[in-house]
Formats: sequence, structure tokens, C-alpha cells
Amino acid sequence: MMRALFFTLLAFVLVTSYSQNQIKLYPEQSQTQISKHIYGHFAEHLGRCIYDGMYAGDSYDIPKTDGVRNDVIDALKKLQIPNLRWPGGCFADTYHWKDAIGPKDQRKPIENTSWGGREDNSFGTHEFLNLCELLDAEPYLAVNMNTGSVQEAVEWEQYVNNANGSSYLTDLREANGREKPWNVKYWGIGNESWDCGGDMTADYYSNLYKRYAVAMTNYGNTDGLFRIAVGPGQPDYEWTETIMKQVPARRIEGLSIHHYSVFNWSNKGSSYAFSEEEYFKTMKRAWFMEEFITKNSVVMDKYDEEKRVKLIVDEWGGWYNTMPEGNGALYQQNTIRDAMIAGMTLNIFNNHADRVHMANLAQTVNVLQAVILTNEEKMILTPTYHVMEMYKVHQDAQLVPLEIESASYTMNGESIPSVSSSASLDTEGKLHISLTNIDHLNEQEITVDLGSIQLNKVTGRILTSARVQDRNTFDQPEEVTPETFRGAKITKGSLKVTLPKNSVVILELSK
Ligand code: AHR
Repeated sequence: MMRALFFTLLAFVLVTSYSQNQIKLYPEQSQTQISKHIYGHFAEHLGRCIYDGMYAGDSYDIPKTDGVRNDVIDALKKLQIPNLRWPGGCFADTYHWKDAIGPKDQRKPIENTSWGGREDNSFGTHEFLNLCELLDAEPYLAVNMNTGSVQEAVEWEQYVNNANGSSYLTDLREANGREKPWNVKYWGIGNESWDCGGDMTADYYSNLYKRYAVAMTNYGNTDGLFRIAVGPGQPDYEWTETIMKQVPARRIEGLSIHHYSVFNWSNKGSSYAFSEEEYFKTMKRAWFMEEFITKNSVVMDKYDEEKRVKLIVDEWGGWYNTMPEGNGALYQQNTIRDAMIAGMTLNIFNNHADRVHMANLAQTVNVLQAVILTNEEKMILTPTYHVMEMYKVHQDAQLVPLEIESASYTMNGESIPSVSSSASLDTEGKLHISLTNIDHLNEQEITVDLGSIQLNKVTGRILTSARVQDRNTFDQPEEVTPETFRGAKITKGSLKVTLPKNSVVILELSK
């Protein structure tokens, strides 16, 4: 009788003290800074991203700075966007920068052969680089490797960067109203060169890349140039191997990879009226980022043990069927599902910060997993915007490595982890832990072992909603916004968190 009672009590103690999810932090192993550039963005000449979404020119009676919407500028400033990639994407590989400088009425209108429509080129190099200055964001330019030439790329770089030299290009820049160079550090050499960027083989691309990388010299740029080669956009690790093997270390600083969370390329499904199965499949594709980064890193480690060449995930996000009512190519809505993609993907990037230096969410306004949607004068912030805003505390903070044991999120016999997390310490000694529970039915009990970290105050913010399909609209712009989170408690060095279903949480621990 006594024995039975003992076992019943023991079972009760175990059940009540054991959470289904365990996280252990290893602060003593902290060696890596999370580059702020992981929180970067991508704006292509595509649909209503640049024209109308960001640059409205003379349209609409709303405040603008040199034609760029102030509401968009203010929202991006609040996100502290660290960099902006431009002008594409596929568009970059047909873009001729000289068509879009000088007096606007003399610029050459072009056909956007990648995404359709006529462009008057009123948004060009000066407008983009001045916008980056205004946002305090590093520009990241993608050079045209398909219909362009090495000469055109070198001249672009001279035009924007040359400080000391004197040439017709620096004269031209000055004549166009800009005396000082902009010092552009980040240069992408080509885009998806295995597809829209020229359908090249890895061998051919490597050789061509070297011609660009050799010719693009550092015109007084204090930090040196950061040249980014095209990497794979699918699990083609041979491509990575070829670049790492063939390009000498002194000619490359970064390798880019692309991954979109698409479960079926021929029918990507609705961006807001999706089924539970579609939600699960999207989450499974989002989790693939972990494997994709890990496997590319393994190949890179073979040639670059010191991790000098960085991984640049310069296109990522959810991609669904275009909504015709959005009036632009690749316009889609943004729901709690997208918040889940953002929360878990940013955790993955943070945890791989020793190799991942930069990432660029596709795309900033009105295209794919946008942080901002506009409808003429109106603007709304999406759930993804709010996740980016909540996670900005990780920018340039010190990564705290962690191990995580997660419950499984299961559907139709397939399982993926429900919980993802990353942690960092800021310069004031505050610890930030971001957590995502993608399970759309079950909350998660989580125990976090803080290791040697002795902080006893915890506050938090949460982004969640009743349904994973919930979103902000122009009629209800505040349907999904962050709120105060009260589901975390610290007792004796152990943190207990109850994470609601489909939620993203950011915790701040302090003394
Ligand atoms: O982001 C949309 C497109 O996706 C980009 O132009 C291209 O690089 C990728 O295939």
C-alpha cells in the first residue's frame, strides 16, 4: 500500500515538474556576435515594391522625402533595418544603372522583362543610395552579370565609391548632384546565375565571377569590399563546393543562398485562406532552412575552417499565390503563419551566426513576405513586421548557444519540432530569449536552464492570434500586434514559460 502511494506521488512530482520542452543555455561558450545584418531586407523592381510601395514620386497627397513615402521610411527606421538589397533579384541581371541617373526627364524608360511593366527609371542609383543614408542602412547592390559586363559593374562601383581618383565617372556623379562617394561595401556578383541570372553551370559561373571579383577594386572604401558570390537556391551542395574550390580566398567574402518556404511551386496556395495541412507543410519547408545552412556550412568548412567566407541568405520567406486585388506582381497577404516563419527562421540564423553574416527578407513592401503593405495613401504593418521589430534586440548582441529538446508538431504521420529559440546578451548585460511555438493547437510548457546566468527579473512581449490565418488588413490594421507577455517566471535559476499555440515571444531578463 505504502509502496503504491510512493510511486503515485513520484509520478505526480515528475509530471508536475517536467516540461515537455527543455532549453539549456551555455553562456560560457558564447563566442559569436549576431551580425545585425541578419535582420536585412530586399527590395526589387518587382510589382509594387519600389514604385508605388516605397517610391511614390508625385503620386498621392502624403508626406514624402524625395518621392519616397515618409510612412514607409518611418516604419523601416523603427525596425532599424541594417541593410537593403537592390535592385534585384532577377531584375538585377537585366539592369543597366546608367539608364537611371541624371535628370529624371532624360532617363530611359525600360520594359521590366523579369516582372512586366514599363519603368521610367525615376528611381535609380542616387535615389536608392540616398534612401539608404536616410535609413542608416548599408546598401547591398547586385550587379548585372547576365546582360551586363565586367566593365559596367566596375564603372558602377567607381561611380558610387571612388573618393580620391578623378575620372569621367566621378565628374558625372558630381554633375548629378553628389560630391561625396557613398562607400558601398556589399556587392552581389550576379543573382540566381543557375536560373534567371543566365542558366550557368557552377564551373562557368566561378570563372565569370573571378573576372568581376578581380576587376572590382577598393576605391578607398575604408572597410574593403564585401563581394558575394551566387550560391545555391536548392540543395545543390555541388554548386557550393565548386565555388569554394575554384574561387581563391582573397577574391570572395560571401556566398549567397536562397530558400523560400513554398510547399508546391505549381500551386503555392492562398496567402491567407489556407488549410491546416498547408500550414503544416509551409512550416516543414521553413524548418528546411536549418538543414540547408548546416549542409552548406559543412561544405564551406572543408575549404574555410576559419569561417572567413560568410553565408548570406539574401532571399528568404513565404511565397504564395499572387492576389490579383493587390495590383502588383507577387503581392500576397501576411498572416500569423508568416510570423511563425519569421520567428523560427531568425532563430535559425542567430544560432548559425558564426557562418551567417547577412540575410534579406523577400521583400520589403507589397511583394512576397513583406513587412509593409500599401494601398494608395494607406499603409499597414504585417505580422512579419512585428516579429522583426521584437527580434531587433538581437542585432549585434552576443549569441548565447543553447540546446533545445522540443515537443513534436505532428500531422499526417509527419513530425517537426514545435519550439524554436535563440538567445543573446546585449552590452548592458540583459539577456534576450526569442521563442516560437508553431503548433496551431497546443501550448507548450518550457523549462529554460539559464546555466551560470544570474538574472531574476523577466518581462516579455508576445505576438499571437486565435487563428494562424489571422492578419492585418486596410480595414483592420491592428488585428495582430504585439502585447505584453505574462507567461514567464524565474525561480532559482530556472525559467518556466508557457508559450501559447502559434505564438512568437521575446523575453528580456535583467537584474
Ligand atoms: O524574390 C523574387 C524572385 O525570387 C527574385 O527575383 C529571384 O532572385 C528569386 O527567384
